[in-house]
Amino acid sequence: MNETASAGEIRKPRVTEVPELKRFVDTGVEAGALLPRTAAELCESLRDFHIYVKDGRIEGCCALHVDMADLAEIRTLLVAEPLRGAHIGVGLLRACMDEARELGLPRLYALTRVAGFFQKHGFREIDKHELPHKVFRDCVRCPLFPDCDEVALVHDLEAGGQSTGTQPAPA
Ligand SMILES: CC(C)(COP(=O)(O)OP(=O)(O)OC[C@H]1O[C@@H](n2cnc3c(N)ncnc32)[C@H](O)[C@@H]1OP(=O)(O)O)[C@@H](O)C(=O)NCCC(=O)NCCS
Repeated sequence: MNETASAGEIRKPRVTEVPELKRFVDTGVEAGALLPRTAAELCESLRDFHIYVKDGRIEGCCALHVDMADLAEIRTLLVAEPLRGAHIGVGLLRACMDEARELGLPRLYALTRVAGFFQKHGFREIDKHELPHKVFRDCVRCPLFPDCDEVALVHDLEAGGQSTGTQPAPA
């Protein structure tokens, strides 16, 4: 995948890493940034994930979840707070976007409160109601449901140009 000795590595997780991934995702849930995921759900969706590992610890994650043949979600994007601002988040996003291209997916979406981050990387805001109903099935588990303050964004990969590749994540 993507590695530099001092900078850590963006790669797919191993099944043995599910407990640590769960603990890491829980930190984002406690901060109110992510929807809760059980260990069983993380296990079932493990192949959706890329993780950022530094000094043997998971310090970032991002998932590409295929909803249907022409639409997938970027979700569970989290970077450990002390490491934010070092282009790890964009590295994880690009790894998932590259995987989406390899799978032949034409469109990605995100439901997020960090719209600016996604806009910076080729996503554009849309009315939530433009997304198919089935993509909202997880929302009922959100404490904010139904008064959600998340913004819907999409990125059309066919129109999105060439892959930029996964950036080496700095130390
Ligand atoms: C959102 C998040 C993953 C970004 O990760 P990060 O590693 O800090 O971001 P990066 O360093 O890769 O940022 C890349 C670029 O996006 C910009 N950016 C980062 N967060 C941004 C935001 N909230 N709004 C606008 N731009 C943002 C950075 O300034 C940087 O710009 P540059 O290329 O001009 O230097 C991280 O802040 C996080 O974990 N937040 C909490 C969890 C969360 O809200 N996840 C989203 C759920 S969908």
